[in-house]
Amino acid sequence: MAGLKTIGLYKIFYQRGGGVIEVLRNINLEISEGEFVSLVGPSGCGKTTFLRILHGLIKPSLGRILLGEKEVTCPGAERGFVFQDDNLFPWRNVLDNVAFGLQVQGASKRERYARSQKFINLVGLKGFERHFPHELSGGMRQRVNLARALVLNPEMLLMDEPFASLDAQTREIMQGELLKIWQRQHKTVLFVTHQIDEAVYLADRVLVFGARPGSLKASLDIDIERPRPLEIKRTPRFIAYVDAVWKLIEEEVRESMLLLSGGRQEDFTEEWEASNGDQGGDRAHREGASSHRS
Ligand SMILES: Nc1ncnc2c1ncn2[C@@H]1O[C@H](COP(=O)(O)OP(=O)(O)O)[C@@H](O)[C@H]1O
Ligand SMILES: [Mg+2]
Repeated sequence: MAGLKTIGLYKIFYQRGGGVIEVLRNINLEISEGEFVSLVGPSGCGKTTFLRILHGLIKPSLGRILLGEKEVTCPGAERGFVFQDDNLFPWRNVLDNVAFGLQVQGASKRERYARSQKFINLVGLKGFERHFPHELSGGMRQRVNLARALVLNPEMLLMDEPFASLDAQTREIMQGELLKIWQRQHKTVLFVTHQIDEAVYLADRVLVFGARPGSLKASLDIDIERPRPLEIKRTPRFIAYVDAVWKLIEEEVRESMLLLSGGRQEDFTEEWEASNGDQGGDRAHREGASSHRS
C-alpha cells in the first residue's frame, strides 16, 4: 500500500466559446497510507475534477501526483473509483458485474468468480450473485459498485459522493458498512461528499476545498476513536466537529453562491438549503443539538 501526494496541482479547462476556467489552484496535499480522508466543498469547486485527475482520467494542467514513489499519469488498477451513480452493466448479473475488471485483466473464470464471491460476501450481498441490477435496491447496487472496485485490490479508493442518491436510512447503513469494510481492508480512501456529518463520521481527517478555483482551505483532524457506532453522531463531540467543518465551509458556500448568481447579494442560506436538502438537515440537526445543550 502507499500514500498519495499531490504537488502544485492546477487545472484549467478551455471553454468551447473561447476563454478558460480555472478549476483547481495549487493543491498540495498528502494522504497517508491507510488513511481515510473526506473532502467537502461547495458545488462546482472542482472535487470531481480533482478525483478524476487522481484517477488519471484527465491530466492536470500543472503539477504532479505521486502514489508512493510512483508518478500517476493514467488510470491504474491500484486506484479504484466509485462513482455517485452505480454504473453497472444492466445485462450482467451481480457476479459478472463484480468480475468484470478481473475479466478485463485476463483472470480465468474460476479465479475471477472465486475472488468476486469473496467481495460479494464482504459487502453483504451473498445470495444475490445471480440477480440483475434492476432487481436490486439503490443501496444494493452501490454495494455491488463497491465490491467491483475492491475486487481489483486497489491500494487507494477514490469515492465521489457514492451515497448521494440513497435515502437517509440506507445511507447511514452504508456509511457504517463502509467503515467496517475499511477496517478490514485498510485501504487509503479519499471520499468526496457534500454532507458534512458523513464526512466527519467516516474520516480520520476532513479536507475543505474553497470556492472556485478549488484550493485546499483547511484540513481538520477528526479525533474520534474507532470503531464508530452510528450513535456516535448524536454525541456533543461529534456535533462540535460538524459545527467546526460547517464554519470552515460556510464562507466558501456563500462565495460560490455569489459566483453562481453573478454577484447578486441575496440570502445565501435559503438557496443553499433549497439546492442542498441534506445540508439543511445538518443545520437543523445542529440547531436542535444546540438548543438541547442550552
Ligand atoms: N470537461 C470539462 N470542461 C469544462 N469545464 C469543466 C469540465 N469538467 C468540469 N468542468 C467545470 O469545472 C468546475 C468544477 O466541476 P466539478 O469538478 O464537477 O465540481 P464539483 O464536483 O466540486 O461539484 C465546474 O464549473 C464545471 O463546470
Ligand atoms: Mg462532483
